[in-house]
Amino acid sequence: MNGLTLHHISKSFGSVDVLKQITTHFDAGQVTAIVGDNGAGKSTLLKLMAGIHAPDEGQILLDGEVLSKRCPADHRRRGIDMVYQDLAIAKQHDVVTNLFLGREITRRWGCFLNRAAMRKTAQRELDRLGITIPDLNRPVGVLSGGQQQAVAIARAVLFNPKVLLLDEPTAALAAREVEQVLILIRQQKQQGRVVILVSHRLNDVFAVADRLLVMHQGRIKLDTPSEATTLAQIVEHIVG
Ligand SMILES: Nc1ncnc2c1ncn2[C@@H]1O[C@H](COP(=O)(O)OP(=O)(O)OP(=O)(O)O)[C@@H](O)[C@H]1O
Ligand SMILES: [Mg+2]
Repeated sequence: MNGLTLHHISKSFGSVDVLKQITTHFDAGQVTAIVGDNGAGKSTLLKLMAGIHAPDEGQILLDGEVLSKRCPADHRRRGIDMVYQDLAIAKQHDVVTNLFLGREITRRWGCFLNRAAMRKTAQRELDRLGITIPDLNRPVGVLSGGQQQAVAIARAVLFNPKVLLLDEPTAALAAREVEQVLILIRQQKQQGRVVILVSHRLNDVFAVADRLLVMHQGRIKLDTPSEATTLAQIVEHIVG
């Protein structure tokens, strides 16, 4: 089966049961938005899919194959990439270094970094995504919050992932940049990727999502096609 499958996933931190028996499937070529109140378990669920945390119980399958537990590198190699809520970028390093972190282009049998090739690819990809950053050699930490968020998004889509996980990708963005990200999400969907978006911005959610999941205290409380519901109903489910 194509896509990402969660099979009876549970996760606790100490005595707190954060995820309780989550079973669901995410299709390729579909955007699913996960919404829910603070602490519902949304980020934890995405981190499990990215391999950052291992589930206590259950399995994650990509295109029907079981993924190894707790190995972000393996998940990434198989094509699962994530934009983290806290961005997780190396602020002291420049844009090019951040985009290629762990996946550097090298020359001479991997002994030397090919900065020129990485720079060229970085510029091309940023242009393609409609992201303007004045100087790719500056440390990411001196960029604006929105530019940092753009770098994190560019890094996640740079290697054409099969599964794109976005945790609050538009939180720091102005209206025009939000539009860019929504366009990018639609492009990823058209290219047949699994796209999973966590967001508190319900307008953004309704603008791109085919399917909505509402989480509450570690469970999926509602799973609906977005066209079968309304913003008011979703708000009701989140607070109710
Ligand atoms: N590494 C961790 N160690 C201990 N507890 C954690 C850890 N990560 C998350 N939690 C706890 O798990 C619960 C769910 O957190 P999570 O970050 O998944 O929520 P969320 O739905 O993403 O919330 P928000 O909308 O605020 O981002 C919270 O009670 C949080 O305190
Ligand atoms: Mg979160």
